[in-house]
Amino acid sequence: MVDTGEDRAIMLDAEHDPALRREEFLIPPAIGGAFPLTAYLAGNSLGLQPRATRAELMADLDAWEQYAVHGHLEADRPWLPYHEEMRDPAARLVGALPREVVIMNSLTVNLHLLLATFYRPTAVRHRIVIEDRAFSSDSYAVRSHAALRGHDPDTAVLRLRPRPGEDVLRTEDVIETLHKHAHSIATVMIGGVNYLTGEVMDMPTITAAGHEIGATVGWDLAHAAGNIPLHLHDWDVDFAAWCTYKYLNSGPGAVGGAFVHERHLGDPRLHRLEGWWSTNPTTRFEMRPESEPQASADAWSLSNPPIFAMGPVRTSLAIFDSVGMPALRERSLRLTGYLRELLETVAERSSITLVTPADDDRHAAQISVRIVEDADAVTERLSDNWGVVVDERRPDIIRIAPAPLYCTFHDCWRAADALSWELTGEGI
Ligand SMILES: Cc1ncc(COP(=O)(O)O)c(C=O)c1O
Repeated sequence: MVDTGEDRAIMLDAEHDPALRREEFLIPPAIGGAFPLTAYLAGNSLGLQPRATRAELMADLDAWEQYAVHGHLEADRPWLPYHEEMRDPAARLVGALPREVVIMNSLTVNLHLLLATFYRPTAVRHRIVIEDRAFSSDSYAVRSHAALRGHDPDTAVLRLRPRPGEDVLRTEDVIETLHKHAHSIATVMIGGVNYLTGEVMDMPTITAAGHEIGATVGWDLAHAAGNIPLHLHDWDVDFAAWCTYKYLNSGPGAVGGAFVHERHLGDPRLHRLEGWWSTNPTTRFEMRPESEPQASADAWSLSNPPIFAMGPVRTSLAIFDSVGMPALRERSLRLTGYLRELLETVAERSSITLVTPADDDRHAAQISVRIVEDADAVTERLSDNWGVVVDERRPDIIRIAPAPLYCTFHDCWRAADALSWELTGEGI
């Protein structure tokens, strides 16, 4: 018998957990319900603002005021090498060597820049594999690359579908598909954690299988970065990209990140789209007509970075660095384990089913729930009536994500209790 009482949540929160940094974040006031603050379980969509972010932004604005053009070199945090400072913490976050990562652009832009290099179709080997339930932007990105290189996107893009009646992909089915179409697959590009189902893909196994058939393998880590430990270098991933506005709490539309494996760095056979930030910084201002690409992921960057958008990423990376992904993941598993127990109790007496796999290897912070009622309306009522913020994805999924840095067991309890009230007319 599961203890669904509020007291248990309060007791669990009373245990000290160094991975909980709630006091470092600004929790929005609740729109409705009995509690003053929101139970914010939508960090999978947009993370909360760290308290330190405002001061970081103001410091960069002050530097602009004080130094104007001289700020490139003379600001306390000079703008010219600003992104360099983020290299080490970003590398630690995704399990990379510092020169394999760069903070730049936004996610879809980075996917395009990386596909421009790593999708090298030939007449026969021209297919790109993605999951059928890929985020729309990824789907558009790979379809447009196929079309750009003269292939029909309808046949060039191979979409991985779960078995009939199942919600998530099985690793063995992914591998079977790769082997079945081995000769025609040029690139595999999948979400490391699926945005809809919350399933975690077996990245090392699928990467190895992709390489075995001669394909390049890249990962969209929008829902994985800052959520689960990653080892991109050791997994031998070719390329990856992520955003920083979800679990990484760097603000709406914040600057993203990209990874290119060491073995591709400085490879003169690789073509890429270039700009003045791709070239060797020591000769950049000689304004030569030809670039001299850096032997780092920076070779894929194009423009001078948007400094006011970089400060929030710096602030966020410092928090992740001080907590560390192993401790964060441990807390995350405890939170989702608890939330799952409560949601299973709600499922026993309502219409919901849990879509996200229960196995710890196959889920991260998000639990996706299928609902027969109008998901949009229920999500709205959860906020209006209970101060519980989750999000929905059409047509029938509600995503509930206790981000471990700032969410509590009590937040999980509030979410399950509110859902129960809305669907059954009684609490848990
Ligand atoms: C999995 C995934 N891919 C791509 C995107 C698009 O990101 P951006 O708007 O930063 O390009 C998102 C946005 O939420 C996403 O979740």
